[in-house]
Amino acid sequence: MDTTGQPKLIVVADAEALACAAAARVMARTSANPGRIAICLTGGSSPRKLYQLLGSDEYRGQIPWDRVHWFIGDERFVPSSDPLNNMAIARATFLDRSAPSSHIHPIPTTAENPDRSAEAYARELQAFYGSDQLDPARPLFDMVLMGVGPDGHTASLFPGYPAVEETERWVVGVPKANVAPFVPRVSLTLPALASCREMLFEIAGHDKQPILTRLLNGETLPAVRARSNGETVWLVDQAALPEGIRGGR
Ligand code: 6PG
Repeated sequence: MDTTGQPKLIVVADAEALACAAAARVMARTSANPGRIAICLTGGSSPRKLYQLLGSDEYRGQIPWDRVHWFIGDERFVPSSDPLNNMAIARATFLDRSAPSSHIHPIPTTAENPDRSAEAYARELQAFYGSDQLDPARPLFDMVLMGVGPDGHTASLFPGYPAVEETERWVVGVPKANVAPFVPRVSLTLPALASCREMLFEIAGHDKQPILTRLLNGETLPAVRARSNGETVWLVDQAALPEGIRGGR
């Protein structure tokens, strides 16, 4: 564990290597916990290759499916049948084939609005955790996966939005997204996401270079403020690195 609380930057060659490194870290976290394991997935395109790997023959057989519970850090407020639904993508890519359905915990999007949906998911998380108070000595998640948007958002915590400042609630409704897709969102908050042994960001591709440059410069964007109470890792590929440090690590 990085006792400074600073994210650990790990640079790999490309998106394929990044997915392999992420999968290895997921496997390490599942191996480290002999009991019930909780993994918080993420949406967007960044985790797709990782999800494919976790569903591949190589990894599928190594995952203790009967002990792992799968959550999601944010959801687009669209039906589960909508191609934009984050958990539906994870389910179709790897979960449905192997995970017991009672171990898959989607954010419900059938509630009347994102706030009600957030309340329902908070209740589900708290029932799983066994308390509505987070104990720093007992993380909610073994691992939280994260991505970074072009504006520095992570989960659905957009810069300047009140959701970023939330300190009490575990999950909040976000009426309007700052970037596409412009659908309302439901998002775990910084304290809920922080309650993990490891928070792993996947940041790959040249498109991420401008935002990674800003993050490395320490701008106080949501993706910089999102930290695990345990270990925070930024897994990045060469293409995403700012010019000045590319190839230098
Ligand atoms: C979502 C995500 C979001 C995502 C970033 C990065 O619902 O869109 O959870 O936080 O991780 O926007 O998106 P990409 O991975 O598509 O670049």
